[in-house]
Amino acid sequence: MHKVLVFTDIHILPEGETVIGLDPLARFTQGLAHALEHHPDAARIVLCGDLAHNAAPTEYARLKQALAGCPLPVDLMLGNHDRRAPFLAEFTQTPVTDAGFVQHYQDIDDYRLILLDTLNEEADDTHSGHLCAHRLDWLDHALASAGKRRVLVFTHHPPMITGFSGMDWIGLHNRAELIERLVAHGRVVQIISGHIHRTIQGAAGGIPVSIFKSPCHQMPMALGFQDSSLSIDEPGAYGILLLHDDGVIVHTEDFTLPDQTPELYARKRP
Ligand SMILES: [Fe+2]
Repeated sequence: MHKVLVFTDIHILPEGETVIGLDPLARFTQGLAHALEHHPDAARIVLCGDLAHNAAPTEYARLKQALAGCPLPVDLMLGNHDRRAPFLAEFTQTPVTDAGFVQHYQDIDDYRLILLDTLNEEADDTHSGHLCAHRLDWLDHALASAGKRRVLVFTHHPPMITGFSGMDWIGLHNRAELIERLVAHGRVVQIISGHIHRTIQGAAGGIPVSIFKSPCHQMPMALGFQDSSLSIDEPGAYGILLLHDDGVIVHTEDFTLPDQTPELYARKRP
């Protein structure tokens, strides 16, 4: 069994700035410390996009500082709040495709993790996602070379409608092209996404999709609202993926709830 930790929608801000009164860097630092304390056996950590709030160089520098000394390998992805140039100026070792897109894959034994770049810097609405022909061709190669491995695909923009109308409006506009490829491959067992800032389970083309909350600000349970900028102060979270021989188990951990040592766990009467 292998374990993979997932943080998404971190939204680092310049020093002194907050989102609805919350400090994204403080929240991420708290969550990362919690994850490393409780899951030091994890194989790696994936940051599933919206690393910075304004894509400012100072925000990426603050994230890099927060990750300094992390004992686990970290995979960085981009979301709609990110921009490639300032991100790559700070994280110079990040793998990119021939055309400069921030996507790569990692193998963990019998699993392949494919991390896609759904950022559309030219989107009219500035926040929706897109996978161009280059990125889809790259995906075809990543799938074809996976052999008999089970495949997990990570996307910032979820490839499904969530019911949050404002967020669906700025979703992955050509998700059908992605799903067609993943279904045709036949060994994609799980899709992991962010973007919504809420824990959501669903499916796309029959493939399970899990969306995780942000470590910082969340989407309120306001289905049908057209506003994509709603936020609420609910517990911050990260995801824990268990990669078994039989398949993938998906957990989430609300790390801002009061921590308990095993000695304090209550037991039900037998
Ligand atoms: Fe976000």
